[in-house]
Amino acid sequence: MNRDVLSITDQRTGKSYEIPIRNGTIRSMDLRQIKVDADDFGLMGYDPAFTNTASCQSKVTYIDGDKGILRYRGYPIEELAEKCTFLEVAYLLLKGELPNETELNSFVDQVKHHTMLHETTKQFLEGFRYDAHPMAMVISTVAALSSVYKKASNIFDVEERELNIIRLIGKMPTIAAYAYRHGLGFPYVYPDNDLSYPENFMNMLWKMVEPKYAANPTIARALDILFILHADHEQNCSANVMRSVGSSQADPFLSLAAATAALSGPLHGGANEEVLTMLDEIGSKDNIPAYIEKVKSGQLKLMGFGHRVYKNYDPRARIIKWTAEQVFKVTGKNPKLEIALELEKIALEDEYFVKRKLYPNVDFYSGIMYQAMGFPPAMFTVLFAIPRTVGWLAQWQEMICDPEQKIARPRQVYTGYEERHIGQKMGVTV
Ligand code: CMC
Repeated sequence: MNRDVLSITDQRTGKSYEIPIRNGTIRSMDLRQIKVDADDFGLMGYDPAFTNTASCQSKVTYIDGDKGILRYRGYPIEELAEKCTFLEVAYLLLKGELPNETELNSFVDQVKHHTMLHETTKQFLEGFRYDAHPMAMVISTVAALSSVYKKASNIFDVEERELNIIRLIGKMPTIAAYAYRHGLGFPYVYPDNDLSYPENFMNMLWKMVEPKYAANPTIARALDILFILHADHEQNCSANVMRSVGSSQADPFLSLAAATAALSGPLHGGANEEVLTMLDEIGSKDNIPAYIEKVKSGQLKLMGFGHRVYKNYDPRARIIKWTAEQVFKVTGKNPKLEIALELEKIALEDEYFVKRKLYPNVDFYSGIMYQAMGFPPAMFTVLFAIPRTVGWLAQWQEMICDPEQKIARPRQVYTGYEERHIGQKMGVTV
């Protein structure tokens, strides 16, 4: 008879155990009963980098990495990118269902009414050096919001929690745009409530002396699609940080600052900036074969390639490629596109990449498009952080409301010295 049970025999003791299997997993705590004697702590799993450990149950995002499937709350990413706005998708991720018209209007209105930064926060941003990396500015400023919204620490107060979720979604584009303009030495532009979420972001980035900013609709829609694609990606490095820091009951501003810091690394959201550096280094199509050889010999990584979960084409990369074509019709083609397309072609045919199932990921084409829109590479990861804020908050909220969750605290396998003692020290008395 088939039963959802794992039978284990411990050859050290000859004892057998039956461990229940649910949703294709066993509970690691069920291993603890497996001991050699009463003093034994019990068996643990060892899983550096969590390559085979589920840290939570989640209803937010589904990925099938082998088939290249990504769904938010059950909806395929392709449909959401085609038919929704980013704020509709934000509502979906946070509340579990797409909004009706009344719900959406109210949600959009709330977000619009929380886009302003406290003037002292603006002054805080002014204190950064002219050449500060915008990600460093964003991370620090999000953390600084904790000093403005002190009640945010009441994380179990539903109203307070929802208010701070709205605040973060509303203020992230403002912080990002201020960080961008700070680097250029331009005066900050205040939010404009007549504009949509991406249009207002463009207004805060690029408005100069004109009385009213008119956003190019193709660029605004492209940004909105990019925001949808980046909104969540289940238990990635930064989402795990958001949950982990949040599990200590730190307020959402501080937890989100930590998640943003995790995103900034080159193996995670920082990869989009690295892709541009790599394309600059390659310089021309003729240099690609030599570059690929360096990657294959382990001297370099092909940035924007590979993924822990996707062992197939990243579905987001496909949509970004299409969106980039629309953007290039307005901005003109980024000359780096030719190098990227050739690099992808060669890599997808090369045995090294085929064997390891290394495909372009979300970061491979996004930077080329962002550059064509006029963003400097240092802003690319900031453009990732704005929409991912929604995913982090959806994951955080789910964690806060999950009765099974506790403070995140992994175990370790200690491999250091046994107890030892300091010998007699010359001339020192205690
Ligand atoms: N270029 C060359 N070789 C690679 C690459 C790459 N980009 N990625 C993985 N490999 C090789 C790796 O060396 C290993 O080879 P071997 O089996 O011979 O040792 C094999 O493929 C498996 O790689 P891994 O390092 O075990 O894979 P991982 O799941 O630990 O890492 C990753 C995933 C995304 C960190 C990695 O693929 C990588 O560093 N990619 C480049 C950075 C990047 O584009 N990051 C963005 C990820 S998607 C968006 C996001 O998360 O923000």
